[in-house]
Amino acid sequence: MAKVMILMAAIGARCTVVLTLAALCALGGADVHASAESVDQATQAALSLDVHPERGAIQFGSHCARCHGSHGQGDASRAIPALAGQRFAYLVRQLANFAGLERDSGAMHGVLSQTALRGPQTWVDIAAYLNRAPLSDPAQPGDGTQLPLGRGIFLKQCATCHRADAHGDADGFVPSLRNQHYAYLVRQLHKLGDGYRHNLDGDLMRFLGGFDDRDIRATADYLSRLRGPGGVRKVMRNDGVVVD
Ligand code: HEC
Ligand code: HEC
Repeated sequence: MAKVMILMAAIGARCTVVLTLAALCALGGADVHASAESVDQATQAALSLDVHPERGAIQFGSHCARCHGSHGQGDASRAIPALAGQRFAYLVRQLANFAGLERDSGAMHGVLSQTALRGPQTWVDIAAYLNRAPLSDPAQPGDGTQLPLGRGIFLKQCATCHRADAHGDADGFVPSLRNQHYAYLVRQLHKLGDGYRHNLDGDLMRFLGGFDDRDIRATADYLSRLRGPGGVRKVMRNDGVVVD
């Protein structure tokens, strides 16, 4: 558990960088390279824009639905993630990651190189639509043979960041892991440990890299059966800050 607390502190520091300025990270001596900084800045700039979910719905239908499904339900047979109900800030950050080549994916790089999809306004509009989109089909589950193992790993090793019900964290940069396809989760858990997201915190990458295939399949199976929205819709807190 101590290891997880140290990791949480490290990730908290990264999120502060996103929310304040990447320059702070340089002060802290972290090894953030130029592209990671520009992704942080693009994310921050995008998150300050007004959102238009109705425009996002149209863009999603034109450019994304052929792979991610007409309701953002994903496609388990191609390990394409479900996006409906995912955290707003996380979605925006991943679009900035793909556009800035900080996360590998030939499919997503091709999509985001189109002129209509390059701008941060489009990212927030689509993310706002997806964050509010109702969940339709249940996610694809695993074979159900290792669920107690998966539950134990998740609650002990992951829930401090992703929360016990896996809906993600308060600021929205830690993703929801609910309603997600088993095949996608298994693939991501292997790839996250291999460093394919170049700006992922190094400690988190090594931590996730320490799980073997059996642990990964068990945890993914447990998660794939959790339902419910990733986060509540945007609400204004008492101090006037709007969060999702
Ligand atoms: C040609 C198929 C294809 C199209 C079109 C496509 N995607 Fe994707 N998308 C993928 C694949 C495959 C992945 C998984 C990449 C990986 O393995 O990391 C992905 C991943 C994502 C993720 C990361 C989700 C997560 O949980 O981390 C987001 C966000 C996303 N896509 C949004 C979009 C949006 C928005 C559009 C339209 C503008 C779009 N995608 C169009 C195939 C596609
Ligand atoms: C220290 C906090 C922390 C811990 C502990 C943690 N995660 Fe995460 N996780 C994150 C963050 C932050 C991200 C988003 C990374 C990014 O922005 O690309 C993430 C991303 C993920 C993703 C990718 C989701 C997607 O839609 O692509 C999966 C899957 C995941 N974590 C599963 C786990 C599992 C399983 C564990 C426990 C074994 C775990 N995480 C432990 C913080 C954490």
